[in-house]
Order: sequence, then C-alpha cells, then structure tokens
Amino acid sequence: MLGTVPPVIENDGPQAVRPDGPCRVTLRPLAGHDQDEFLDLVGVSADLHRPWVSPPSTPREFRTYLTRYEQPDEESLLVCLGGTGAIAGMVNINSIIRGRFQSGSLAYAAFAPTAGQGYMSEGLDLVVRHAFERLRLHRLEAQIQPENHASLKLIERIGFRYEGYSPDFLFIDGAWRDHERWAITNTMTGIVPAEPHPTQPER
Ligand SMILES: CC(C)(COP(=O)(O)OP(=O)(O)OC[C@H]1O[C@@H](n2cnc3c(N)ncnc32)[C@H](O)[C@@H]1OP(=O)(O)O)[C@@H](O)C(=O)NCCC(=O)NCCS
Repeated sequence: MLGTVPPVIENDGPQAVRPDGPCRVTLRPLAGHDQDEFLDLVGVSADLHRPWVSPPSTPREFRTYLTRYEQPDEESLLVCLGGTGAIAGMVNINSIIRGRFQSGSLAYAAFAPTAGQGYMSEGLDLVVRHAFERLRLHRLEAQIQPENHASLKLIERIGFRYEGYSPDFLFIDGAWRDHERWAITNTMTGIVPAEPHPTQPER
C-alpha cells in the first residue's frame, strides 16, 4: 500500500497524496483538548475494542495516558478526517528504543463511527512514513493475537511481514495472550533518512 506518500503531521508538512488520490486523513499528536471527543469515541467503540484494546475511558485515565505520551520514548497519534478534523482512530508508537535498535512498537484502534472505511489503513501508512522519515526509526513492530483477524488483515495490507509466534506474550484482557509478531523496516519501504538518528552508532 505504501506509495510515494510524504509523511503528514498536521501543520507540519504538505498534504499527503496517495497513489490513488489525495489522502483522506491527517495525523496529529494527542492533546489535552481532545479529552471529551476521545472519551466519547471510546464509549461508543466498546464493542469494537473488546477484548483487544482498553484505551482510557475516564478523565482520570485520559490524563494519566496523556502524561505517558509526553515521554520521548512514546508517541500517541490521532488519525483525523481531512475535512472535518474528526478523530477516526488512534495509533501509538510505544517503547521506542534508540541506539542499535531504532525500533518502536505499534498499538492502534479505530473508532466505531468511522471504522471499516479505510481510514486506519491510510493513517497507518502515514504513521510508517512519520516513524521512518521524521523519527528516523529503522523498524516498527506490531504484536497481534491470532484471532484478531481485522488487525492481521490491516497490518499485512500496510506491508508488515510475519516474523513469528510468541506464546504468553502480552497481558491483555486479564490474561497472558499468545501473539503473532509482525514488523516492517525502513529498508522494506525504501524510506531511508538522509542522516541516521544521532544515537545510532557509526559501526
Ligand atoms: C483493527 C482495526 C483497527 C481495523 O480498523 P478499520 O477501521 O476496520 O480499518 P480500515 O477501515 O482501514 O480497513 C478495514 C476494511 O475497510 C476496507 N475499506 C473500505 N473502504 C476503504 C477505502 N476507501 N480504502 C481502503 N480500504 C477501505 C478495507 O479494504 C478493509 O477491508 P478488509 O479488512 O475486509 O480487507 C479495528 O478493527 C479495531 O479498532 N479493532 C479493535 C482494536 C484492535 O484490535 N487493535 C489492534 C490490536 S493488535
């Protein structure tokens, strides 16, 4: 799905263009003023999200979450509709490790009112470009439960490759769950920054 699409963080770059037309979504970092819209969307998306993800659902949880994503090793991005700016989904780049790894781990969810219309596919394309061009990461990972068919289809469509299977990998919905491990590297996409990240060793 990756074409010649520049990365887009709202107000931080040109409008993205997909190979088959203009991109319908933009990315921007989660902010405090998103609280009401975000919590309303989490409320109406409970059936879609359960049992896969548990985003913050109260003002207190939202504030804790926001503080977490102010740290340099985590980034929380919103997938927003280009026209109205309405929030369509969320993608977090977690556990960013620099040095010889230059890797981050993705977590994502659509919101029910706009799910199933391709917005998350477009949003994840932009996240991959942002991660490789702007953050200068080398690799993104996604861990997915084998029964989560919607997530598996999505990540394969973005171009991730299957790397393996890890029993008891993540604690989700009250138990340690087996996960498939999927990943994409910048070399797989052809997106290589002019300069490597300063924490990457020379050799
Ligand atoms: C996984 C999840 C994020 C997918 O979100 P989504 O909104 O369905 O994603 P998309 O709309 O981009 O893609 C879904 C479908 O829309 C289709 N689609 C519809 N219109 C489209 C368009 N204009 N452009 C591209 N795709 C379009 C896609 O082809 C895709 O169909 P397919 O899955 O049958 O191949 C969502 O199901 C979710 O939030 N699940 C719960 C949370 C979760 O599991 N998170 C991941 C944990 S590992």
